Amino acid sequence: MLAELGVLALQGTGFVDLLNHAARLTAEGLQADYCKVLEYLPGEKMLLVRAGIGWGEGVVGKARVGADLASPAGFALQTGKSVISNHLENEERFRTPELLVQHGIRRAMNVILQGDGSPFGVLEVDSKSEGEFSEHDLAFLQGAANILGMAIEQQRYQRQLQAALDRHQVLLKEVNHRVKNSMQLVGSMLHLQAVSVGDPELSERLSEASIRISTVGRAYDRLAYNADYEKIDLVGYLREVLKDLEPSVSPSIIHFEATPGAIQFAADRAILVALIANELVSNAGKYAYPKRPGETIWVEVAQPDENNVSVSVRDGGVGLPPGFDPLKSKRLGARLVTALSSQLDAQLKWPSADEAGATFLLVVPLDRNPAG
Ligand SMILES: Nc1ncnc2c1ncn2[C@@H]1O[C@H](COP(=O)(O)OP(=O)(O)O)[C@@H](O)[C@H]1O
Ligand SMILES: [Mg+2]
Repeated sequence: MLAELGVLALQGTGFVDLLNHAARLTAEGLQADYCKVLEYLPGEKMLLVRAGIGWGEGVVGKARVGADLASPAGFALQTGKSVISNHLENEERFRTPELLVQHGIRRAMNVILQGDGSPFGVLEVDSKSEGEFSEHDLAFLQGAANILGMAIEQQRYQRQLQAALDRHQVLLKEVNHRVKNSMQLVGSMLHLQAVSVGDPELSERLSEASIRISTVGRAYDRLAYNADYEKIDLVGYLREVLKDLEPSVSPSIIHFEATPGAIQFAADRAILVALIANELVSNAGKYAYPKRPGETIWVEVAQPDENNVSVSVRDGGVGLPPGFDPLKSKRLGARLVTALSSQLDAQLKWPSADEAGATFLLVVPLDRNPAG
């Protein structure tokens, strides 16, 4: 039985379930009518019946017994010494707690439940029948208490870990929030400069820079509110980034489609994909339809296979100028797109100059280093 309890503890059985298993196995092992796990409540200086077997309605989870030295359980808790009271009615060392009187209990055994830290409480078996608990019985009860003690310590440790993790996540969210705010601030300042600077060429460059910064900021916005602090939904993120782009590509229209409708993607890599899409869509907005307002720029996200995501940007416009070679282009956009693609270990298929319109296809590995 102790082995069974040990296995249950090691299997990570839920805490309260484990306590109830312990109470059941202990009572069975000692052929006792009742067993209970008492948890010390420092606030009330009482012992709560946290789990148990054999008790009537309204006991487990509610009833309390005294934790003072005059109560058998209290004595075990405070002295760490185990207690056997085989004749509670004649007992001079202790009073018989009300709960035991109500259930007609005549004999009880108590051992402390202790992990490494402060004691958790007491494990007690009770019986209303004749007979006596022996030292051998106490050894068994102690065995069960030791196993429970370890499980209790494990629980405490896990709770501390979880608390630390929660704190960490709150901090991380706070940092992401601040990064988002700072990015937005810088983006708006650049935008203000773009609309106030006289020179149209410079103004365009400044607003492009502003859009690039907001694109990054949006990712942190999602991280700040995301459960997963590493991944974000690439589709939702791209949809937002493209929404931000609409004013700058107007009068062209962006048509966005994604299958599947959501893709969890590492945030730092999603930012690079969005920056590339940003460049390609801005270009289509600037160059594809010089004299044709209201034309469409198609952006499609798909998963060609389980290891990759593809993002295509297509327009039916004038197409790339003949002889345009992205690798030789001195223009920032082309260089950014090339650099970011290689950073992603992504393949970017450029349209051929003689193609009608322009279709760019970016295929990105879903995970950081696919085959590495
Ligand atoms: N979708 C497109 N349709 C037609 N021409 C394009 C398209 N995208 C890019 N180009 C051409 O490629 C050139 C390089 O683009 P890019 O490197 O982004 O430079 P820019 O700073 O001009 O945007 C542009 O100047 C333009 O002539
Ligand atoms: Mg460009």
